[in-house]
Amino acid sequence: MNKEHYSDNEIYMNEVLVNNEMKVGIITENTRTTVEDHFQDVRLIKFRSDNINYQPGDIVYVRPRNSKEQVKRFFDILNDNNVQLHKDMLIQVSEKEIKVPNVLKQTLTLYQIVEQYWDLNFKPRRSTMQVLSFISDNELEKEKLHEFTTANGQEELYNYINRPRRNILELLADFPHTTSQLNVKLLFEIMSPIKPRAFSIASSLKVHRNEIHLLVAVVKYKTKLLEPRYGLCSNWLANLTEGSKIIFWIQKGTFKFVYDRPMIFIGPGTGVAPFRSVLLDKSSLDDDLRDCALFFGCRNKEKDYHCKKDFEYLSEKKHLNLFCAFSRDQDYKM
Ligand SMILES: Cc1cc2nc3c(=O)[nH]c(=O)nc-3n(C[C@H](O)[C@H](O)[C@H](O)COP(=O)(O)OP(=O)(O)OC[C@H]3O[C@@H](n4cnc5c(N)ncnc54)[C@H](O)[C@@H]3O)c2cc1C
Ligand SMILES: NC(=O)c1ccc[n+]([C@@H]2O[C@H](COP(=O)([O-])OP(=O)(O)OC[C@H]3O[C@@H](n4cnc5c(N)ncnc54)[C@H](OP(=O)(O)O)[C@@H]3O)[C@@H](O)[C@H]2O)c1
Repeated sequence: MNKEHYSDNEIYMNEVLVNNEMKVGIITENTRTTVEDHFQDVRLIKFRSDNINYQPGDIVYVRPRNSKEQVKRFFDILNDNNVQLHKDMLIQVSEKEIKVPNVLKQTLTLYQIVEQYWDLNFKPRRSTMQVLSFISDNELEKEKLHEFTTANGQEELYNYINRPRRNILELLADFPHTTSQLNVKLLFEIMSPIKPRAFSIASSLKVHRNEIHLLVAVVKYKTKLLEPRYGLCSNWLANLTEGSKIIFWIQKGTFKFVYDRPMIFIGPGTGVAPFRSVLLDKSSLDDDLRDCALFFGCRNKEKDYHCKKDFEYLSEKKHLNLFCAFSRDQDYKM
């Protein structure tokens, strides 16, 4: 990989350059597989990368970033509470006190850390409340935060955080006096790093050279809070456009496909992803998929039948035994 070509602000690039397993992909296509008026947004996301090797059933791990809006919100909350932290300030984490992950062994701007390292959707824990209660100098806020750390306060903590799925930014906004005490060091204590997410590979290297396809359900749901909750990685992926970069690595999956025996696949919704991979793969070697059966289920034939063209092609041209259940296309559930 040419370093100069990727010398923008991607903080994991050093790991890509020194670690053979980490790769950079370039998005070539991002298509919605459900119709616009269907409640669930699902994407078939395709990206290109050199020197990749995988088998059907393998998994891709992806590193997402926070959205620009969430990053802005983070800085706005701090600035509104007189925490003078500028996005361009340079951060060098000292290795004296804690074990520092590789990515933090370089000098980074606060903006890079906020956008790419800390999970702004993170659901605060009891330990987060503990740190905040220690630093708080406001009586009311301190008392409430302390209550969340006690055995008696656990139901209240559940109702405040877990049930509505409040995130760390909303917590900081709700406790302004305590937030005003924050500094970079404390932020490292209360924030949690973004964890990579797994996705089943939906493509076959034999059919899609140097490409990986993912079938991604975009997570968005309502709680009692006004603002919908958004899944970090699936929304980040859904917003990638052609030419965007994606940092990923491949891991062996648990599926073992044996091509010289009959196979039955049962894959509802996005669960069909690994079976698209294996069926396209097998079809590139064998014109006859008569010994394979795919059971696929979705809500409506015309709304959320992911990769319909591929499965109908395999059924019509390669004799795949295809069984579909469209659970809500009739009065009764199928
Ligand atoms: C081996 C493996 C393979 C996978 N393959 C795929 C795949 O091919 N395609 C795919 O789309 N996903 C796949 N996943 C899931 C994927 O890894 C992510 O978990 C998913 O995309 C959500 O990540 P996110 O960052 O968008 O959401 P997060 O920010 O991680 O939020 C998800 C969390 O939100 C909460 N949540 C979500 N929906 C609701 C709801 N309706 N009500 C209340 N709370 C809710 C849950 O706590 C959930 O854990 C796979 C996971 C594994 C482990
Ligand atoms: N391991 C992997 O590789 C992998 C990859 C991606 C996804 N997954 C899994 O695949 C599943 C599909 O998720 P999705 O959100 O994409 O599906 P979905 O759209 O919610 O559902 C797809 C179809 O399955 C039906 N269905 C759902 N639950 C059912 C149940 N308990 N019994 C019978 N039918 C049921 C739905 O019918 P109704 O809604 O009408 O009931 C719908 O017709 C999830 O469990 C997901 O975690 C696995």
